Amino acid sequence: MSSDDTPNQPSRPARRGFLKAGAALGASLGAGAATSGLAQAAEAKHHAMSADPMLAVEPFYGEHQGGIVTPQQAHTYVAAFDLTTISRDDVINLLRKWTESAARMSQAHPAAALDYSGDDHPAADSGDVLGLGPAGLTVTFGFGPGLFTSQDKDRYGLAHKRPAALVDLPRFNGDQLIAQKTGGDLFVQACANDAQVAFHAVRQLARQGYGILTMRWGQAGFLSGPRAQTPRNLMGFKDGTNNPPTTDPKAMNQFVWATAADAPWMQGGTYTVVRRIRITLEHWDQMELGFQEQVFGRHKYSGAPLGQKKEFDNVDLNAQDKDGNPQIPENSHVRLSNRASNNGAQILRRSYSYNDSTDFYIERWPPWRQETEYDAGLIFIAHQGDPRTGFIPINERLAKFDMMNQFTTHVGSAVFACPPGAKAGSFIGAELFSA
Ligand code: HEM
Repeated sequence: MSSDDTPNQPSRPARRGFLKAGAALGASLGAGAATSGLAQAAEAKHHAMSADPMLAVEPFYGEHQGGIVTPQQAHTYVAAFDLTTISRDDVINLLRKWTESAARMSQAHPAAALDYSGDDHPAADSGDVLGLGPAGLTVTFGFGPGLFTSQDKDRYGLAHKRPAALVDLPRFNGDQLIAQKTGGDLFVQACANDAQVAFHAVRQLARQGYGILTMRWGQAGFLSGPRAQTPRNLMGFKDGTNNPPTTDPKAMNQFVWATAADAPWMQGGTYTVVRRIRITLEHWDQMELGFQEQVFGRHKYSGAPLGQKKEFDNVDLNAQDKDGNPQIPENSHVRLSNRASNNGAQILRRSYSYNDSTDFYIERWPPWRQETEYDAGLIFIAHQGDPRTGFIPINERLAKFDMMNQFTTHVGSAVFACPPGAKAGSFIGAELFSA
């Protein structure tokens, strides 16, 4: 057995190049008509296997990092780290290790080759996902403002390479940011079809940084929808309907991928905003269905814009009801965030729900209520070519006027420059660190 082999791993799904479950299914439907019955049966068997979300494999190396336009996996673990080292080489070596380990884990291998030569040292991998399969794991890395300058210090000689688009986010109306859930020098987003696979990836990478960095915050998230349908967030509405199409490279170039104009090393990367948005689910659940729909400007069950029938019907901000009032209310979430209200700006949202147990709440005055409330909501994640024309103006409008604000509070925030994908043999961010 080579040192790469994981004990109890029945087969090596990663090496067989399984397709994404959804893509495989689509392909089989298209190809079916032209093939013989036998071939069809074989194909169906193959696709039934590849449709197992635990066997899905996403490429790690490539022009862009995974986990950005990748169809959304069911789970995420996102984390941000503060660098404590003063050595530029430490950072480079860490990124090399991270790149290699992320590539290995996305193939269902341990983070580093397991060494069976003895039990007198810690194992290179915690071992908790041995045999589980790749589960469509993607690992996405990002650089926060603190990598470039921290407390006015140019720690790693990178200050002059900070892209203008990597702005410190302004304070928005209603922000209640908690320092321990905000910011970070380095960002790791692991997405997978299994919660343990996602957490495992971040945990191994964090461990490789012992002595070089500390973990600032970590957050698990989930989001499941029926296959090939838009998933619903905890408010019960379909979330992601009116995203720019990830299958259209033109739209992605226009809205999501950064250009070289600002910082050549970011070409093919993206800027990512993360907001931890707490939702008072107890309050929301008491609201009439019709009011909930007014808040979003969409029908709850079909997901259609108000007054329309189907989820993907056009959002027509000029549509009026029989009394001449706007069909999509003035302060609804969809009207305020739509491109027509934001100079054509669009962002790619790839958010997850979170559910972090409960808090206990006691009033010290009559009627002395004692309640347990959920700490749950949305880990809002949005990718864009430039936050100054994307998230910032859109959220400025939402923070002031969105009816949804009665139910939501932004408690965490971060912004990162996620560089382009790495070529095999190189590492994430290599262009930033090249002289
Ligand atoms: C808890 C917080 C939030 C929830 C539950 C939420 C939920 C939704 C839902 C249900 C939709 C309609 C379906 C869709 O097109 O995806 C939507 C649309 C949208 N949201 Fe949010 N959202 C939240 C926060 C935000 C924030 C902070 C921003 C950005 C600053 C944002 C930007 C957008 C955009 C751009 C659209 C598409 C609007 C359109 O063009 O029709 N959302 N959101």
